[in-house]
Amino acid sequence: MLGGHCTDVPLPQGALQTLRADNPQLIELRRAYRDSGLVVTRHSLWADETLSQELELPWFRGDNAYVWQLRQLRAQARLKQYLNLLDVREQDHLSLLDQLGEDGLFGCWTFEYANTPAVSRDLLDSVREINFLERHLGLSGRHDLRVLDIGAGYGRLAYRMCQAMPKLVAYDCVDAVAESTFLCDYYLNFRGVTPRARSLPLTRFASSAEHPAYQLAVNIHSFTECTRETIVWWLQRLAELEVEHLLIVPNDADGLVSSEIDGSRIACDEDVAAAGFELVVREPVIANDELRELIGVNDHFFLYRRRGT
Ligand SMILES: C[S@@+](CC[C@H](N)C(=O)[O-])C[C@H]1O[C@@H](n2cnc3c(N)ncnc32)[C@H](O)[C@@H]1O
Repeated sequence: MLGGHCTDVPLPQGALQTLRADNPQLIELRRAYRDSGLVVTRHSLWADETLSQELELPWFRGDNAYVWQLRQLRAQARLKQYLNLLDVREQDHLSLLDQLGEDGLFGCWTFEYANTPAVSRDLLDSVREINFLERHLGLSGRHDLRVLDIGAGYGRLAYRMCQAMPKLVAYDCVDAVAESTFLCDYYLNFRGVTPRARSLPLTRFASSAEHPAYQLAVNIHSFTECTRETIVWWLQRLAELEVEHLLIVPNDADGLVSSEIDGSRIACDEDVAAAGFELVVREPVIANDELRELIGVNDHFFLYRRRGT
């Protein structure tokens, strides 16, 4: 069951006029992706029909295909997000929970508890991911950090990384779903973090011979919602770009499994290895064993390093 969107916070001025299916920018992106012939535009879970049932453009931060917020938690949402908050707080060595904030804009479901600012799944996931990257890669000390986010959704992590990492040089978001590229572009502009973070159209990314030297690529719940053919295509790009580290969060605890058009699923761990990446860390996203069981989420971080770096 879908979880809809929260209407507590009104949409910002102009959002309803811009975030429309007939926006010329979105129509052009759709056309370009369709005509590109790129294998990554042959979708399984992200087919047009699914998207039209799941996504209301102006409330893109509601409970939808980008970030599940309520549907799996339902009546226990308030309780489970509190447990989630306890776990995130234990891991939040950068104190991001106090710094980043959640304004509930664009339909985001937020939760308030005594003595703590409002939280959302967007905020909690992002704080957890940034602390994980900090712990293993020491991001905050780097002066030249460039990140590529594949399947970046509406730019959730891009915006949070810009907030959390003042020294971040570039955070590029790329996606094979036109609506995602469109929303991400809107959101990053709205949050005022462009051009440091930007939404790159797939066609531009695929045709460009010149890319920044990315040290890190991230893929949060996105490869796992694509076909193996798509995953292999992206992995080849990462190999060509000589990206040093790759963070994948799949939808399965054991490893990266694809979602095929016929509904089957294929293990893709060997494809990651064939692209030159070795697994250096596998860690449960929810660190506390008891909380993980109570919340009922067993996602894992898979951090890879390119062999020879
Ligand atoms: C569950 S959402 C996750 C979004 C984002 N990574 C986050 O964690 O907030 C999955 C993302 O994968 C993207 N996606 C779907 N098919 C893709 C493909 N073939 N290539 C790249 N990204 C794709 C979707 O557009 C969406 O942005």
